[in-house]
Amino acid sequence: MTSEMNQRILLASRPEGRPALENFKIETVPVAEPGEGEVLLKILYLSLDPYMRGRMSNARSYAQPVAIGDVMEGGTVGRVVRSRHAGFAEGDIVLSHSGWQSYAVARGDHLRKLDPAAAPISTALGVLGMPGFTAYSGLLTIGQPKPGETVVVAAASGAVGSAVGQIAKIKGARAVGIAGGPEKCAFARNELGFDAVIDHRAPDIAAQLAAACPGGIDVYFENVGGDIFAAVFPLLNKFARIPVCGLIAQYNDTGPRPAPDRLPGFMREVLSRSLLIRGFIQREFADQRPAFYEEMAAWIASGQVRYREDIVDGLESAPEAFFGLLEGRNFGKLVIRVAE
Ligand SMILES: NC(=O)c1ccc[n+]([C@@H]2O[C@H](COP(=O)([O-])OP(=O)(O)OC[C@H]3O[C@@H](n4cnc5c(N)ncnc54)[C@H](OP(=O)(O)O)[C@@H]3O)[C@@H](O)[C@H]2O)c1
Repeated sequence: MTSEMNQRILLASRPEGRPALENFKIETVPVAEPGEGEVLLKILYLSLDPYMRGRMSNARSYAQPVAIGDVMEGGTVGRVVRSRHAGFAEGDIVLSHSGWQSYAVARGDHLRKLDPAAAPISTALGVLGMPGFTAYSGLLTIGQPKPGETVVVAAASGAVGSAVGQIAKIKGARAVGIAGGPEKCAFARNELGFDAVIDHRAPDIAAQLAAACPGGIDVYFENVGGDIFAAVFPLLNKFARIPVCGLIAQYNDTGPRPAPDRLPGFMREVLSRSLLIRGFIQREFADQRPAFYEEMAAWIASGQVRYREDIVDGLESAPEAFFGLLEGRNFGKLVIRVAE
């Protein structure tokens, strides 16, 4: 028996459009005890990611939604407090997918042990974790940037976009970022080394993008969709590659946008410019993870890849912080510090 209590955040209802506090319920329950082959984790960091908006919804997707009344899903870094698995000891730091809660029981064979001496443990949720891997696998496998080519990515100061731009530079390409507001643009240009950065809140984004890409666009790493894709599309060069990673500008949409039927014209352009457009979910490239861990760790060590985290304290802050992610209020990889 234990006296520890688990604070957890459940999905209470499905949002229509923008999510709100009433879609979540916070409750406190006694922690569960680990069974054979399991460990009890004290959660230290919870990752907040755009895909969670999809898990709140019943709309058709690549993954099952979170059921009403279930703990919200999410990647976590935790400390083992009790172990009934031979591979883990009390005090070990592990990556798990334990969701929005302060304690969790997890199967040992679902965990990855982290080395706190190698990198700050929160990076296992960001640059050295799922978002970094998304950038690496999507850009290198689908985008295939070549020296001298121009790579464009939006949400350029964020977890995925910041890595896309820096990996593009490592491969010898020009990196052009799109970000929201002067602070994020300055960060992407000065700290991350993008060659040019455009503020998508500016009124003339299409003209600015054209000026920043005088030779056109060879790779557009699609993170946001919506109006930004409309500005990018006319600039795509023949044989351009478009890894479709995310469409965050559209996640709160309640249905198809009323629009003229542009699909026939779009397909004509795909044909005449030999465009390669491929959607992907990072886990489709799981066999590349060992190479990613090795290369990304080396790039961070050499200073070729830099990263920024936006750490928010307290599990109860997660819903508000998540709303901010969908509106661009985060600045860097958004992580909740659940406990020290
Ligand atoms: N396919 C996969 O396997 C996979 C895996 C991970 C992530 N993703 C996708 O990758 C994208 C980036 O995710 P992330 O984790 O790196 O998040 P992030 O960039 O750290 O945060 C989201 C950013 O999106 C931008 N944004 C939000 N609403 C926007 C809007 N209406 N128009 C334009 N930009 C908007 C904001 O940046 P600004 O203020 O700079 O605009 C915001 O900070 C998301 O679409 C996500 O779903 C896909």
